[in-house]
Amino acid sequence: MFPIADEDILPLSKEHVFWTWSAQARVNPIPVKTAKGVYFWDIHGKRYLDFNSMTMCVNIGHGNERVIAAMKAQLDELPYAAPGMTTRVRALASKMIAEISPGGALRKVLFTLGGADANENAVKLARAYTGRYKILTRYRSYHGATAGAMALTGDPRRHMWEPAGLMPGVVHFLDPYRYRSTFHRTNPDIPEEEFTRDYLNHLEEIITYEGPETIAAILMESVTGTNGIIIPPQGYMQGVRALCDKYGILLIADEVMSGFGRTGKWFAIEHWDVIPDIMTMAKGLTSAYAPLGAVAMKPEIAAAFNDRVYEGGLTYTSHPVSLAAAIANIQVMQEEHLVEHAAAMGRVLHRMLTELGENHPSVGEVRSIGLFGIIELVRNRKTKEPMAPWNGTSPEMSALRNYCLEHGLFLYTHWHTVLIIPPLIINEEQLAEGFAILDKALEITDGAVTG
Ligand SMILES: Cc1ncc(COP(=O)(O)O)c(C=O)c1O
Repeated sequence: MFPIADEDILPLSKEHVFWTWSAQARVNPIPVKTAKGVYFWDIHGKRYLDFNSMTMCVNIGHGNERVIAAMKAQLDELPYAAPGMTTRVRALASKMIAEISPGGALRKVLFTLGGADANENAVKLARAYTGRYKILTRYRSYHGATAGAMALTGDPRRHMWEPAGLMPGVVHFLDPYRYRSTFHRTNPDIPEEEFTRDYLNHLEEIITYEGPETIAAILMESVTGTNGIIIPPQGYMQGVRALCDKYGILLIADEVMSGFGRTGKWFAIEHWDVIPDIMTMAKGLTSAYAPLGAVAMKPEIAAAFNDRVYEGGLTYTSHPVSLAAAIANIQVMQEEHLVEHAAAMGRVLHRMLTELGENHPSVGEVRSIGLFGIIELVRNRKTKEPMAPWNGTSPEMSALRNYCLEHGLFLYTHWHTVLIIPPLIINEEQLAEGFAILDKALEITDGAVTG
């Protein structure tokens, strides 16, 4: 289509592209050429099994012809309309999102370009609606890379930018992370109910100290993504909802990564029958066929702006091509029953992860919900010493990732963890194909086990 030879892609990119999340001299990108289903191919024809849905976003899999056709048709009809106008796709996409939202309760939708700006707008809405300014988020969280979203982010990705001043008013709290629970080091076998209670007490104590009348919202990933696939223990999500109700605080669910079938429900928060006041989404909303994010909200929040202006907007809000992708993506998910398929394959993934854990001494713990899985690698199961330090890497983790890539398995490693987040269309055979490579790769980390 464009006059660039395959072999020029990498050198030209290295010369002119400024890479995100990277030391520029150290990048070594895969020059990817095409993709179909759960696989993609580089310019040399090497095939990779995609165990990370690219950036945890290609939920319906690669090269879906129905979505591509919908986008092409939209381009022919109308590529763009101004934010103050409306279009067939804007009407339909907002209605569809309202209908699939938890309990069908989030009736109004503000469209953004991705997850970070969805969270930023959710914060604006919550602050304007409540008249309060503080936002509580968790330490083990990632909410995006713009200044407000970085402030919301609890993990170390915010540190570099803090000296310059990020969005003020964010207070972090601890995650109910059972495997490495601060409160239960001497009592790891505490019953789940008590474990949940301890973390809710911790949260309520923080609410008290901060002053409930200053807190606009608690914003949380329903299931924590890159910070560890932390699945809320029974009663936790309901307990957070109850605290929000008690103190007049809004609950914002960040479903950017956990939404759109990833956990075997449309949205992860539905596993606990909790309805948030505001929910943010992106990634699986279009399965990354085009950039799009969204903020869905309860009608009373939207109604607070009936007579006052919402001060916020984006040139590309409700971009018709992205909305066409979202509509077709949701239709594919519904008609091909991909949420149910993800739940069924999730049980297979869980079994495979458990077996892997039994066979490899470097596996400290595995966790998964739907097709959202993680392996925690440790040097010692007793001490739980991680295979790479907090916010760092190690020769073993690098070698493991390189082994997988060499053998055609694309996955994401984060510090001492390996994430397994494949497209929802994956089948058992394809999961087994990836796990066979992982099984060999883990011999590398097994070799570093000390006890
Ligand atoms: C939970 C969560 N929230 C927000 C974001 C930010 O989304 P984006 O990269 O589209 O801005 C991400 C991205 O990975 C995410 O995982």
